[in-house]
Amino acid sequence: MTDQTNPDKRPVILTGDRPTGPLHLGHFVGSLKSRVTLQETHKQYVLLADTQAMTDNAHDPDKVRRNVLEVALDYLAVGIDPAKTTISVQSHLPALAELTLMYLNFVTVSRLERNPTIKEEIQARGFGRDIPAGFLCYPASQAADITGFKAVLVPVGEDQAPLIEQTNEIVRRVNNQVGREVLPEAAALIPKHGRLPGVDGKAKMSKSQGNAIPLGASPDQIREAVHKMYTDPNHLKVSDPGQVEGNVVFTYLDAFDPNPAEVEALKEHYRRGGLGDMVLKRRVEGVLQEMLRPIRERREQLAQDPGYVFDILKKGTAEAREITQQTLDEVRGALGMFSFPQ
Ligand code: TRP
Repeated sequence: MTDQTNPDKRPVILTGDRPTGPLHLGHFVGSLKSRVTLQETHKQYVLLADTQAMTDNAHDPDKVRRNVLEVALDYLAVGIDPAKTTISVQSHLPALAELTLMYLNFVTVSRLERNPTIKEEIQARGFGRDIPAGFLCYPASQAADITGFKAVLVPVGEDQAPLIEQTNEIVRRVNNQVGREVLPEAAALIPKHGRLPGVDGKAKMSKSQGNAIPLGASPDQIREAVHKMYTDPNHLKVSDPGQVEGNVVFTYLDAFDPNPAEVEALKEHYRRGGLGDMVLKRRVEGVLQEMLRPIRERREQLAQDPGYVFDILKKGTAEAREITQQTLDEVRGALGMFSFPQ
């Protein structure tokens, strides 16, 4: 029997997204693409992390609720197959909340404050000293997500690496306390080409920065976003030599153009001078239009039948509830917590 016909023996993967807005090309490059591939060889779970989204959106639960469906549509539209991948909703997995509470006893406040991802996000959100406790502690919740499914592989963008590291610290502490390996450690799977910049050239593509191309973008939205793309500010005349490094148009061609040899030739021409930005932008636009059209069409089609999508989530969540409850029972038992005599 091969691994594929014996799903339970396959290595377990868990990833998740905060449903705070529709997903974009950054997510596509950063993790959606690898999920579509990995579902063929691994037991894959994907989590709609709405509880985690609440840690910095408690003032807007409406947004979080609405985006559970939006993100689920993105998943299905890019080819995450519910027959191969289990998609579940975090807020309906109570065992994860209980594991979180337990793990909070295996991590210190100062360690949470030193987490580079958390530090960066606190800055970005301008919390100052008014950091919601739930936000500071969400690494323990993410550790619960990962270990609740006993995942050994977590495909994420590089900004998430410190969260996997912190998860493994918690895992080691729990295992150490118990005296055996009750929880597996997990490895982050980070894409080689790094993170996709926003169309404005800023390091991170993000909806809140207004520099993102959503997966469901209309042809006009795509055209507009490409038009705004950051190129070489010193490349004023077509005949001027241009710079390729840091030029978003080339970053996108490298990421998406199906013909890398032609892209290399264009880079050379651009460096030499005589190649205009408009020619390049037209090419990027063509590549993106072609790549996103089937995703958009599938998304629109699915959006007309939300009942179908909710059924997928319901089924996935029921399966995930059992698995995470089992892990919680094991951890409680291993720690030797109280249980009623049978
Ligand atoms: N923190 C992740 C993000 O902001 C979302 C997430 C929640 C996640 N739980 C997870 C990612 C578990 C990987 C594994 O995108």
